[in-house]
Amino acid sequence: MPLSSHVNPEDIVQRLQAAHITPAGHASALSQATSTHIQPYDSRYTSQTNIPKYKIPEQGAPGDTVFQMIRDELDLDGKPNLNLASFVGTWMEPNATQLMQENLSKNLSDADEYPAMMDMHQRCISIISHLWGVQPGEKAIGSATTGSSEAIHLGGLAMKRRWQIKRKEQGKDASKPNILMGSNAQVALEKFARYFDVEARILPVSKKSHYRLDPALVRENVDENTIGVFVILGSTYTGHYEPVEEISQILDKYQEETGIDIPIHVDAASGGFIAPFTHAGVGGSKWNFELPRVKSINVSGHKYGLVYAGLGWIIWRDQSFLPEDLIFELHYLGGTEKSFTLNFSRPGAQVIVQYYNLIHLGFDGYRSIMENCLSNARLLSQSLEATGWYTVMSDIHHPAPHKAASHAAKSIVKQAASTVGGENAGPSETSADYVAGLPVVSFGLTDEFKNKYRHIKQETISLMLRARGWIIPNYPLPPNEEKIEILRVVVRETMTFDLLEHLLTDIVEVTETLIEHDEIDLQALKKHHSRRRVRAKGDDEKNKKKEGAAKEIGKEVRSMEDGIHRAVC
Ligand SMILES: Cc1ncc(COP(=O)(O)O)c(C=O)c1O
Repeated sequence: MPLSSHVNPEDIVQRLQAAHITPAGHASALSQATSTHIQPYDSRYTSQTNIPKYKIPEQGAPGDTVFQMIRDELDLDGKPNLNLASFVGTWMEPNATQLMQENLSKNLSDADEYPAMMDMHQRCISIISHLWGVQPGEKAIGSATTGSSEAIHLGGLAMKRRWQIKRKEQGKDASKPNILMGSNAQVALEKFARYFDVEARILPVSKKSHYRLDPALVRENVDENTIGVFVILGSTYTGHYEPVEEISQILDKYQEETGIDIPIHVDAASGGFIAPFTHAGVGGSKWNFELPRVKSINVSGHKYGLVYAGLGWIIWRDQSFLPEDLIFELHYLGGTEKSFTLNFSRPGAQVIVQYYNLIHLGFDGYRSIMENCLSNARLLSQSLEATGWYTVMSDIHHPAPHKAASHAAKSIVKQAASTVGGENAGPSETSADYVAGLPVVSFGLTDEFKNKYRHIKQETISLMLRARGWIIPNYPLPPNEEKIEILRVVVRETMTFDLLEHLLTDIVEVTETLIEHDEIDLQALKKHHSRRRVRAKGDDEKNKKKEGAAKEIGKEVRSMEDGIHRAVC
């Protein structure tokens, strides 16, 4: 949720006057119009009445009017289904929606009052633990959270506390904890470091590391003060899975050499509900509790868990990894409840519908949805590359390295089969034939295109698609690779084949329009563009100064005083 500031209506009026939108003489009419809602619906009442927007009205207004007024204002929002910027689900089945509506009033922290809901919470933890390879003899423990962010903070906090306890037992200094992550880390990971006083060692990513955490840099940057490594199962930028097993092996070797045991927390915000179900898995390697070094994993129930916004999960492989002094025993209305969360009250309905999804869809249902998303993402990637204008940085449309030969053979058979047996004939393929990753398509204009049409900025494509309803962000890759901008499409369950066809058509039409127009025609769009660039340029200068404060190569350590952080979500 963004931070919102209090608004002084007079400031808005002054700003508009300063922008010469209205002559100064009309200030008082404008003052009312900008700081109040003027009611258009019902001349008997509302056309005469202004309802203040930024101060509570002295008297209330009729519910129907306010309802209509709010509804109409919300029409200005984008359409969630066309919001391809977000990993968060925007659709649930009618049964699930009904269950949510019927349970909207239940508070997840009222364990005693809602025992059936709490049972479902416990069953979800158990089901997800099994999906993540819980090991015999271990007792996994976990909790629902408001999303992956809260879950990551809890996972990080448990690592920090375990490290502090161990250091104190050894009579060593416990005041300088650090944590490792790639510069592709989502804002929640950096937030953990900042909010909980841990030095963030943010390791640069590169084309060579597939824009994800570079295992070689992990070895160079760990030390006795490292509380853990955040490894991401599904980079927010490009959808690449980070190599959990490889990093685990590097840390095994480090432990052999030094005796220092560094845990891994896997941020599987999206991948935690994709990798267990898909044929591809994570491309043949391990990523979950099968690796002893992985102590905790988070996922967003509201991403590929297919629940509406407001649900995450955190699970520790065994209760021994959750320090007791972080657990609160709440004696609440006659019962005793153990909890480790950042929030107390929060909605419980999401937990109920997570359970509905797990039971209703089953393994098969989740598998077919995830395979479908990946198949659509592959199609989009391949089609974009076929235009010759775009290059795709995500890799899920590339044949899996060990399957390259069989892939070539399959496509020959498929071609032959379609000649004789129709378009859909031939051997079917699955995600296992391709590089494993999230159903994310990160793409940009090719160098040839950029050289040929120098007046076309990639951001303009995002702006023009927005005018057609599609929300597709354009942003730079993480530091070190920030000169490369990407457009990113997150393919969710609701991206049907029909929608995909429309999207492709629109991308092609927009690109053609830009090609056919010259620099002068594009001035209107560029005006907006250049305003944003000026701001970015100022920030660049600030960043350069910060970098001037000599950061070691391969290790960017951000201090807590560095000011506002910018990140991608
Ligand atoms: C890799 C990763 N981690 C964490 C988050 C934060 O998740 P949430 O929005 O559930 O708090 C995201 C969100 O996109 C993400 O992609």
